Amino acid sequence: MQTHEIRKRFLDHFVTAGHAEVPSASVILDDPNLLFVNAGMVQFVPYFLGQQKPPWDRATSVQKCIRTPDIDEVGITTRHNTFFQMAGNFSFGDYFKKGAIEFAWTLLTNPQDQGGYGFDPEKLWATVYLDDDEAITLWQEVAGLPLERIQRRGMADNYWSMGIPGPCGPSSEIYVDRGPEYGVDGGPEANEDRYIEIWNLVFMQNERGEGTGKSDFEILGPLPRQNIDTGMGVERVACLLQGVDNVYETDLMRPVIDLVAGIAPRGYGVGNHADDVRYRIIADHSRTAAIIIGDGVSPGNDGRGYVLRRLLRRVIRSAKLLGIDTPIVGDLMASVRDSMAPSYPELATDFDRINRIAVAEETAFNRTLASGSRLFDDAANATKASGASVLSGTDAFTLHDTYGFPIELTLEMAAETGLTVDEEGFRGLMAEQRQRAKADAAARKHAHADLSAYRELVDAGPTEFTGFDELTSEATILGIFVDGKRVPVVAHDAGISAERVELVLDRTPLYAESGGQIADVGAITGTGSSGAARAAVTDVQKIAKTLFVHRVTVESGEFVEGDTVVAAVDPTWRHGATQGHSGTHMVHAALRQVLGPNAVQAGSLNRPGYLRFDFNWQGALSDAQREQIEVVTNEAVQADYAVNTMYTKLEKAKAMGAMALFGEAYPEDVRLVEIGGPFSLELCGGTHVHNSAQIGPVTLLGESSVGSGVRRVEAYVGLDSFKYLAKERALLAGLASSLKVPSDEVPARVANLVERLRVAEKELDRSRLANARAAAANAAAGAELVGRVRVVAQRMAGGVSAGDLRSLVGDVKGKLGSEPGVVALVADPVEGSDAVPYVVAVNPAAQDLGFSANDLVKVLGATLHGRGGGKADLAQGSGSGAAHVDAALSALLAEIAKG
Ligand code: ALA
Repeated sequence: MQTHEIRKRFLDHFVTAGHAEVPSASVILDDPNLLFVNAGMVQFVPYFLGQQKPPWDRATSVQKCIRTPDIDEVGITTRHNTFFQMAGNFSFGDYFKKGAIEFAWTLLTNPQDQGGYGFDPEKLWATVYLDDDEAITLWQEVAGLPLERIQRRGMADNYWSMGIPGPCGPSSEIYVDRGPEYGVDGGPEANEDRYIEIWNLVFMQNERGEGTGKSDFEILGPLPRQNIDTGMGVERVACLLQGVDNVYETDLMRPVIDLVAGIAPRGYGVGNHADDVRYRIIADHSRTAAIIIGDGVSPGNDGRGYVLRRLLRRVIRSAKLLGIDTPIVGDLMASVRDSMAPSYPELATDFDRINRIAVAEETAFNRTLASGSRLFDDAANATKASGASVLSGTDAFTLHDTYGFPIELTLEMAAETGLTVDEEGFRGLMAEQRQRAKADAAARKHAHADLSAYRELVDAGPTEFTGFDELTSEATILGIFVDGKRVPVVAHDAGISAERVELVLDRTPLYAESGGQIADVGAITGTGSSGAARAAVTDVQKIAKTLFVHRVTVESGEFVEGDTVVAAVDPTWRHGATQGHSGTHMVHAALRQVLGPNAVQAGSLNRPGYLRFDFNWQGALSDAQREQIEVVTNEAVQADYAVNTMYTKLEKAKAMGAMALFGEAYPEDVRLVEIGGPFSLELCGGTHVHNSAQIGPVTLLGESSVGSGVRRVEAYVGLDSFKYLAKERALLAGLASSLKVPSDEVPARVANLVERLRVAEKELDRSRLANARAAAANAAAGAELVGRVRVVAQRMAGGVSAGDLRSLVGDVKGKLGSEPGVVALVADPVEGSDAVPYVVAVNPAAQDLGFSANDLVKVLGATLHGRGGGKADLAQGSGSGAAHVDAALSALLAEIAKG
């Protein structure tokens, strides 16, 4: 039974039983904790947690899933895929254990001619969670499964969660016995290659907390309702129903293996296990790569991009190890498309983009491999020559740092030459490098890498930020720093220049740069023990995420530690900053609305009047997309939505669909900023307007690329937006007045002028050439005899291009007839340039006398400091210096005179 049929029967079975058919979600969902969607239930999490009301009580789907923790098992076992299709049925508080067991059992055991999969009931086994007697009874009663084919297993095997906080519950798995040729008796507990798991029924009833591993987490309590979440591995069922040995040989994956076998010098399944594993890695990984790229990921150095890069590199490396020397990724992508597009049409419609990205990675990696492999060979040889068997951590680090070799690749290559790698040394160097990068970043912000002076204040507790509610706050000075050293007092007349003084207060309304919003400016004033004092605040940065440090210029008086002061934000600045930040949320929301969920935020920056927003996207936006983003943004501004902020638990915020920056670590309690209900919901600690209309107009400036797969939009907001538009309008008015047409006729008039200019220039060229021809004709008439050769050596008035010069030389040469003749023309530079182009032609009779254009052109070049060359009949070049043209021509005549 073909894979497509297996999918169809699954969905039909459950739709008939009242389930809503839900399409697969993208493999990327907005959850910073989840790299990729790894189960069918992920898109339904808010329903299980009771945070959203599901539109249906029962659903079914075939979900694209990515699981890479077992990447090293791929190709080695018979059943591990990094991408697979999980068919599932879900009950949201509707049926529970009995229903789940019944539905699964009938689909598996119903004969094939009655719509089922036709598995032999005698071959099926079930496992249940340790104390789940209820499930054991149901398996016996509903399915007639004998007790000896039901096994109890512990948390690691039969208690399921997504690996992160969320819904969880005990599970019951169904296995198929493939027979004694695959291993020992004893059920799944004894051997999971012989007894192959095909379906997991999760009795989703609890919520789990933080923790690691499959069993090391706290169970927080029961979910509001008892649910069902199941997952059937489509590839595994295909493997069994198609009677093939492993998932890689099923109908949708085998074509890649066959394709590679047609290219590689060594075949598949001919007794070389290591080669077979390589074939299977290629089949598995190329499919996963296509799917991931299809959902919007580009190769990169961290997160999802790194997973993709690693998959593609393993494909390329495996192909190399099979002896394939030519690029192969393009063919692999096409094969994946042909197999998978019937279920995932985007693989066909978006093929050009997917293919381009994958092939670009191959090209880049091949370059890297070539240079890195040389380094590796040298290092490996040196290691062996010294009698050692361990490649140093430094070599591995250089390969990684300079040549982009993943450590796994170095490990593999080392193993092939009989070496091991000092992995610990490698990791130490990596850690050092990360540390350095962090220190650099901190030093850039604080000018002093040594933060120990601030430690005491950091430990004393976080600065209280009052700026959400007020722009002016009374505060106490907790610490004063000059050049990063703590001092008890700082005075204006001490003559300390700007930017060197920092004040730390117990509370402040001044926003410290974070989340893309730049710091507030304002002032700190004191009337304390030592009289009136004022400091202008030019920057505010956080240390250790909690301590606000105000960089100030002391303008008058003195500040003493312990003084009571008043810290105030410049209200105009703050108003602009809120416009910039709220405007960023609006543009983000509009982008997602126009481009879809693949336009994932990659960074942002906003300041009064201006914002920029980076997002993952391949290729430039079209004009229509840009316009639409601008329209959606401004309509949302105009709608005058209330801006609401609230604090909630991270989990809850994510379940509400709040957008968060991928890879960012968020605290347990997060702040949510909501604009226009579902329009925009983001985790954000920034300052915002109260109503969206306060943002004012938003004008997109343009869109550009900032690295592979990342685009940037920039915009003006508020008054700056108006000023920008006013400037544009003034420009247009100026143009209209010089062109003497109304503004809306400017484009047509300009187009018309450009066209007329083009025609005029062409006309000018024609007449210039005609003049030159006439001059050349005269020149031919005045050819002088030098030795036995008739020579025309002449300078042409400016404006003759090298191309025209060539055709003129041909003309003149033609007019000289069949007697030995040489033509050399040098053009004066055109205005504004120093370049002097020249061309020399020698006719056949002169060539017979031993003259060559290639030699003669060098004579011109010698005087004109030029370069050039050609053949015996025609050569050209270009030099400089109009002043030397006559001398060059004389030198040429002298050369010809020598004979
Ligand atoms: N969510 C369950 C699994 O992934 C069905 O195994």
